[in-house]
Amino acid sequence: MKNIVILISGRGSNMEAIVRACTTESWDARVAAVVSNRPQAAGLAFANERGIATAVVDHKAYPTRDAFDAELAATIDRFAPDLIVLAGFMRLLTPAFIQRFHRRIVNIHPSLLPAFTGLDTHRRAIETGCKVAGATVHYVTEDLDNGPIVAQAIVPVLPGDTEATLSARVLSREHQMYPRAVQWIVQGLLREENGVVTHIGGESQLLT
Ligand code: GRF
Repeated sequence: MKNIVILISGRGSNMEAIVRACTTESWDARVAAVVSNRPQAAGLAFANERGIATAVVDHKAYPTRDAFDAELAATIDRFAPDLIVLAGFMRLLTPAFIQRFHRRIVNIHPSLLPAFTGLDTHRRAIETGCKVAGATVHYVTEDLDNGPIVAQAIVPVLPGDTEATLSARVLSREHQMYPRAVQWIVQGLLREENGVVTHIGGESQLLT
């Protein structure tokens, strides 16, 4: 049984989607803990209701990024993680943290990487006149929003779209894609060669 630790900072809707899929699809894995850097993160309540262990490592209580990440790593280690899932976790992680959990950290980013790394992805896609947008699940490396791509989901950008309408369209796709991608990883169904990740069973890594 693999242990998944999910890191959140806020709403936690992707975390919810993963928790629900893990239970309803009887994965050979469990969400061992949900950890937030914000005490007020709404997602903590959902995890508590489900009987999942929660922890808060408040970044404001630590003088440096290194100190915060050291405490975060120690907290996560208590749950013997096989996989650390970033789900709306809004802190940059230090190289030391990323190296410690090499290829055991995944993230979901709300754009079609390598386009639009960083923040405000939907606004930037609309302002650029993009006709498609989407989200990417990728392994976390020291290169911000640039690790090997596990899966991508695409949606159209429609005339009249606002940041709110586009982000809602993308988010509903994220909720389908992220649980699938996490399940592939915990089942050992992915192979990586020269930075390219493929599903060994040939399942499509593109959600349209
Ligand atoms: C999602 O849009 C995700 O792509 C981004 O942050 C948002 C998190 O939403 N990384 P939620 O907390 O999972 O609801």
